[in-house]
Amino acid sequence: MDWKNKVVFLTGASSGIGEALAHAMARRGAVVGLLARREDLLKELAAKCEQSGGQARVLAADVTDADAVAQAAKALRDEFGAIDILIANAGIGGNNAETRNLNPAAVAKVININLLGAVNAVAAVLPEMLEKKSGQLVAISSLAGFRGLPKSAAYSASKAGMTAFFESVRLDVQAKGVSVTIIQPGFIKTPLTSGRANKMPFLMELEDSIPYFLRAVEQRQKFAAFPWQLATFVRLARIFPAWLYDATVGRATFRE
Ligand SMILES: NC(=O)c1ccc[n+]([C@@H]2O[C@H](COP(=O)([O-])OP(=O)(O)OC[C@H]3O[C@@H](n4cnc5c(N)ncnc54)[C@H](OP(=O)(O)O)[C@@H]3O)[C@@H](O)[C@H]2O)c1
Repeated sequence: MDWKNKVVFLTGASSGIGEALAHAMARRGAVVGLLARREDLLKELAAKCEQSGGQARVLAADVTDADAVAQAAKALRDEFGAIDILIANAGIGGNNAETRNLNPAAVAKVININLLGAVNAVAAVLPEMLEKKSGQLVAISSLAGFRGLPKSAAYSASKAGMTAFFESVRLDVQAKGVSVTIIQPGFIKTPLTSGRANKMPFLMELEDSIPYFLRAVEQRQKFAAFPWQLATFVRLARIFPAWLYDATVGRATFRE
């Protein structure tokens, strides 16, 4: 796939994976629409993207605001004609005491951003993609969505929901020219995972992870899970009986 002049609508662009991905796509000549709440960071990133040979537009918005996300997508389409790729990446870990103690409002916040925010982004681009009979929807889900993880009830639920949502959408749109790619990373060093006291298994450097994201999009993979060691364990753990799952995964302390 040639990234040159591909128009990408990227949510969660202001830090971590989104920021690194935006820069990598811009270096390859893409047009990147950068959506997140922190406008100052997006402006700095847009300047870097333009210096690297791409084009970038700052689209400051909150993914939980469906109208604002729709307007951002429209602004990108109005200027560049069409959006080729949506990367629904905005997300929070929700690893604060409130989420762990199952404060319903804190859980709702994680679900609203991670799952319903991605739904808002899909709704903002899908009708035009279907009309054009082309486009790609990309979900940045997580290995945390395969099965419930300890101290991660809200996050695991949001990512399981995200994976299921995008897979369902794929069944409905793939015959109509729109492809769906669900990316399920393990642990990557970003602000989301920083500050955790305990070891995260197979933690990846951010820069090392970017080729995996790019390849999954370029090859229009239906699913891409990495790193392979953790992805293999998580796939296996899916068929563990509950006693074995509790005895192994239940003891994990990576969220502390
Ligand atoms: N890091 C990992 O180990 C890992 C592993 C698997 C999956 N993921 C997923 O990868 C995605 C990116 O995570 P990251 O690690 O790069 O975290 P990060 O550095 O904290 O970045 C999160 C991004 O999401 C944006 N965001 C958060 N709430 C938003 C909202 N309400 N509206 C718009 N944008 C919002 C943030 O921007 P603003 O604050 O400026 O709005 C930021 O740009 C997340 O969906 C995460 O679940 C991460």
